[in-house]
Amino acid sequence: MMKKAILIVLVILLLPLPEQLSADPRTHTVKFTCGSQLEHNASIYVPNFIATMENVSIQIRASGFGKARTGTGPDANYGLAQCYGDLSLVDCVLCYAQARTITPQCYPVNGAKLFLDGCFMRTENYSFYHEYSGPTDQAICGNITRQNPEFQVSAKRALSRAVLTAPDNNGYGRVEMAVAGGRGNGSVYVLADCWRTINATACRACLAKAFDYLGRCLPMSEGRAVNTGCFVRYSDVNFLNPITRNPSRRGRVIVIVVAAVSAAAALIIGAIIAVHMWKNRIIQNKRKGDAEKLVKTLNDCSLNFKYSALEKATDSFNEANKLGQGGFGTVYKGVLADGREIAVKRLFFNTKHRAADFFNEVNIISSVEHKNLVRLLGCSCLGPESLLVYEYLPNKSLDRFIFDSSKGKELNWEKRFEIIIGTAEGLVYLHENKKTRIIHRDIKASNILLDSRLRAKIADFGLARSFQEDKSHISTAIAGTLGYMAPEYLALGQLTEKVDVYSFGVLLLEIVTGRQNNMSNKTSDYGDSLVTVAWKNFQQKTVEELFDPNLVFHNYVNLKNEVLRVVHVGLLCTQEIASLRPTMSKALLMLAKKDEELPQPTNPPFMDEKTMELNDMSEITSSPLNYGNDYSVATVSHSVFYPR
Ligand SMILES: *[C@@H]1O[C@H](CO)[C@@H](O)[C@H](O)[C@H]1NC(C)=O
Ligand SMILES: *[C@@H]1O[C@H](CO)[C@@H](O)[C@H](O)[C@H]1NC(C)=O
Ligand SMILES: *[C@@H]1O[C@H](CO)[C@@H](O)[C@H](O)[C@H]1NC(C)=O
Ligand SMILES: *[C@@H]1O[C@H](CO)[C@@H](O)[C@H](O)[C@H]1NC(C)=O
Ligand SMILES: *[C@@H]1O[C@H](CO)[C@@H](O)[C@H](O)[C@H]1NC(C)=O
Ligand SMILES: *[C@@H]1O[C@H](CO)[C@@H](O)[C@H](O)[C@H]1NC(C)=O
Repeated sequence: MMKKAILIVLVILLLPLPEQLSADPRTHTVKFTCGSQLEHNASIYVPNFIATMENVSIQIRASGFGKARTGTGPDANYGLAQCYGDLSLVDCVLCYAQARTITPQCYPVNGAKLFLDGCFMRTENYSFYHEYSGPTDQAICGNITRQNPEFQVSAKRALSRAVLTAPDNNGYGRVEMAVAGGRGNGSVYVLADCWRTINATACRACLAKAFDYLGRCLPMSEGRAVNTGCFVRYSDVNFLNPITRNPSRRGRVIVIVVAAVSAAAALIIGAIIAVHMWKNRIIQNKRKGDAEKLVKTLNDCSLNFKYSALEKATDSFNEANKLGQGGFGTVYKGVLADGREIAVKRLFFNTKHRAADFFNEVNIISSVEHKNLVRLLGCSCLGPESLLVYEYLPNKSLDRFIFDSSKGKELNWEKRFEIIIGTAEGLVYLHENKKTRIIHRDIKASNILLDSRLRAKIADFGLARSFQEDKSHISTAIAGTLGYMAPEYLALGQLTEKVDVYSFGVLLLEIVTGRQNNMSNKTSDYGDSLVTVAWKNFQQKTVEELFDPNLVFHNYVNLKNEVLRVVHVGLLCTQEIASLRPTMSKALLMLAKKDEELPQPTNPPFMDEKTMELNDMSEITSSPLNYGNDYSVATVSHSVFYPR
């Protein structure tokens, strides 16, 4: 009984509550301005800035708001960040992480003000916390006109209600109101937020000004006021997240559970919590020492790149150097001072608070070396944001070829087969190397890069290990690469290397057909996916009909069997039952040994829409206890996260 009670408490501590799940972090930039004064002394300013951001980040994670000051004098750094009231804490962390990659762009100017659609961030070298009005206050209006006058009337009414209620509601107002005149004229949605550092009087004044400005946006369908002390938005489209944040919720749930178990159990739980807190304190003290050591390691370490060098190499992360959006961040091309070409990945996530773990991961990943893996050269862990440095591959990724009707011709079957074998070899190495077994979890055409001779190199492996704590972006991520995810992973969160085998199978089918297994569309399901189509054709012995028209065979008779064999292996890899799928090394053998008899595949997953619904994602997010396997990759934190 007691054991059970303790278990309940621990589980609740671990599970993200439904409210914690991600909805929409609204990371779109509304307005970004830099100050006009240059920092005074970079060797003081930059560490101050980083320390402030780190401090704010800790507070943001706990309450959706943070402010901190580091240093004194002209290079002091005052920071403030706040998520708007309708963001869940998870989304708030995402929004903050995005903001944090933007504000350092002002450097070497020492002030930045950034309004995203979900959060606000500001830094200065003076205390600005009480400012609520200023010359930069303005409204940014939409460009679509709403003709009917009822909309204007309702928008004004909704705005005034939000503006009137917010000051006495911790500065947060939210209104949804049907447009007068009945059905078909829609609704109007309003969000109002004052920074938590200003008092109710100042909040009222700021919102009143916003109300005034936004009135002039009408009859446009949308408007945003970006004032010194507040943010207000109205729209005829519902942009509001359905759930309101409630910071004290987690604590409350724990109390309820403790109250429900017997007094004896509660005593024990209390003791456990006390011990836990005491341990934490010791760990914290130890961390302080570790941090100092880490800084030293990083400074001396060959893996560490100087932030300034990378900034220079990429021309301050110039749009023109952008190579694309990979899992976890944006990738830029760079040229180092010595002429070496590199790819720099700018991470969305604020990993500074665990720089040690992050660095250890980078250390492990960079020691993993194979001809079919993109080489990680190092990182910048101490600068104002976290960066990873990779070897640069000029030919970009496989998806740019096989899904393109003209570029597809550049890859004949021999090349494609070589890419398949290379990818398989890379995966075998990841799964079976002795140092550290790695499940990639995000094998897909856009993660297969091609070198100058069009050989396959797998990108982004091992990164998920570094993001164990960022369980946050799961729902966003799953939508991104749905078509590649094994059913047991999607529905139950079961993570084994067979998850990669499944994705590899999908990739094989894509390479043969030139079609994308596109399931990012919410309404589609496994029923009409490429995998299912291939399975049906396989049973009817009509697989040839699926061959990519871009594949021109000079020696069709000989090659046909090879292509058919690849489809066959693809179907073996995408079988619904994970245990029936071959391991990667077996799959590689099947592909390479062309005269060996292949087993008959069983069916691929036929999931219906219902089981695919995002509701089920709560299962995935909430089962950190399920990953009891011998891999150190332990959570479902996943890859592609595109800011919207
Ligand atoms: C910047 O500050 C550092 C540390 O206090 C000091 O050593 C250095 O001389 C300063 N540089 C300038 C240009 O003032
Ligand atoms: C964050 O900054 C505040 C002051 O702005 C300071 O009191 C607090 O100790 C800092 N916390 C950490 C974790 O650095
Ligand atoms: C902020 O920085 C500027 C430029 O470095 C300096 O002139 C100004 O005095 C600083 N402000 C404060 C309050 O120290
Ligand atoms: C509210 O803040 C403003 C600006 O900082 C200040 O002038 C005013 O005295 C404050 N009012 C109250 C009631 O504290
Ligand atoms: C209206 O605004 C949207 C988004 O800002 C923009 O993409 C579009 O081109 C604008 N349309 C016109 C007619 O200005
Ligand atoms: C919107 O309201 C107006 C005024 O009441 C009404 O005449 C109109 O039919 C409504 N529009 C729709 C699409 O129902």
